[in-house]
Amino acid sequence: MELKVVKASVEKGEGLGWGKSLLVPSIQEILKNDSQSVPERYIQEQKDRPLISQNLFDSLQVPVIDFSMLAQKDANEIRKLDLACKEWGFFQIINHGVREEIMVNMKAAMAAFFELPFQEKSKCAKAANEIQGYGQNFVVSEKQKLDWCDMMFLKTFPHETRNFKFWPLTLPGFKEAVEEYSTEIRKVSNKIDANLSVLMGMDENGLKRKLGEFQQGIRMNYYPTCSRPDLVLGISPHSDGSLFTLLLQDDEINGLQIKHKEVWIDAKPIPNSLVVNIGDAIEILSNGMYKSIEHRAISNEKKPRMSIATFVMPGDEVQIGPLDSMVNEKHLPRSYRNIKYIDYIRQKFAMKMQGKAHTAIVKL
Ligand code: OGA
Ligand code: NI
Repeated sequence: MELKVVKASVEKGEGLGWGKSLLVPSIQEILKNDSQSVPERYIQEQKDRPLISQNLFDSLQVPVIDFSMLAQKDANEIRKLDLACKEWGFFQIINHGVREEIMVNMKAAMAAFFELPFQEKSKCAKAANEIQGYGQNFVVSEKQKLDWCDMMFLKTFPHETRNFKFWPLTLPGFKEAVEEYSTEIRKVSNKIDANLSVLMGMDENGLKRKLGEFQQGIRMNYYPTCSRPDLVLGISPHSDGSLFTLLLQDDEINGLQIKHKEVWIDAKPIPNSLVVNIGDAIEILSNGMYKSIEHRAISNEKKPRMSIATFVMPGDEVQIGPLDSMVNEKHLPRSYRNIKYIDYIRQKFAMKMQGKAHTAIVKL
């Protein structure tokens, strides 16, 4: 009798959390046995392969925002932020106030985790019906091409969403590094959120008032080297389902590419900076004024690359839809329907990473 009840509620999506993903092999482990191997499941269709050889748009640069100037309410810097959100959906922030030591510790903790023997890492492995933990997400079919990447996803805020079952608690310094990093990033994200609120026609607390306490999740991406980076993708083209995302990337190795006016542009690393991108939720709230831009990561032959993406998200039960201040029936008609955030995120995790397919679903 009891079993039936559990099954019924699972069918309705209750108790399922954010979603599930098929379990896939670790690409890092496959390469330990044969570093030259490029298994069929990872070889992209011709049309999806990256062009590695040259970048014709080398001179185009993702806008750089000086965060200390935003704190001083510098009108020019605020205008730059507005333009970056409108025209790029991406910007890099410098002078953001997160101490270098905290970023270095976070990167070291992540590297130490991925260097652990597979058996040890597997203690944090995600289950098929979970999205937290070590493994891969967004795999919905056995036929789907796989990304050249292993990842670890952990929820970090609010505190009660932390599930230590997925944290490598015996790895010295890991928990402390993640706690410290996530706390510092939250300070930065609060400032971004205050600025976006004002740019979207509200006071500094506008988004917080509307969306409640934000959630934060951290995705650590480990991209091993690849003998044929021209055939594979580190991470498939996608937009992020967050309000916005802060990415700590390798200080030297290129990997992240942004689709800007239909061409793929490298987001060249600036040491100690953070890459910020607008996610689907801000695209919806801003009624399409600020776009969540498609991006992807490519792999390389020389060095493994690591990146740490921190997603800032509304609460699960919050309704998201165009803000009143961003809708004007005559000039800016409402172009997205309202949706509960958890329904949006469940829909996202139920599909493979596929460009902008997810925002299309809520478009009017
Ligand atoms: C992500 C992402 C890009 C990168 O994790 O959502 O887009 O460069 N990562 O790792
Ligand atoms: Ni992303």
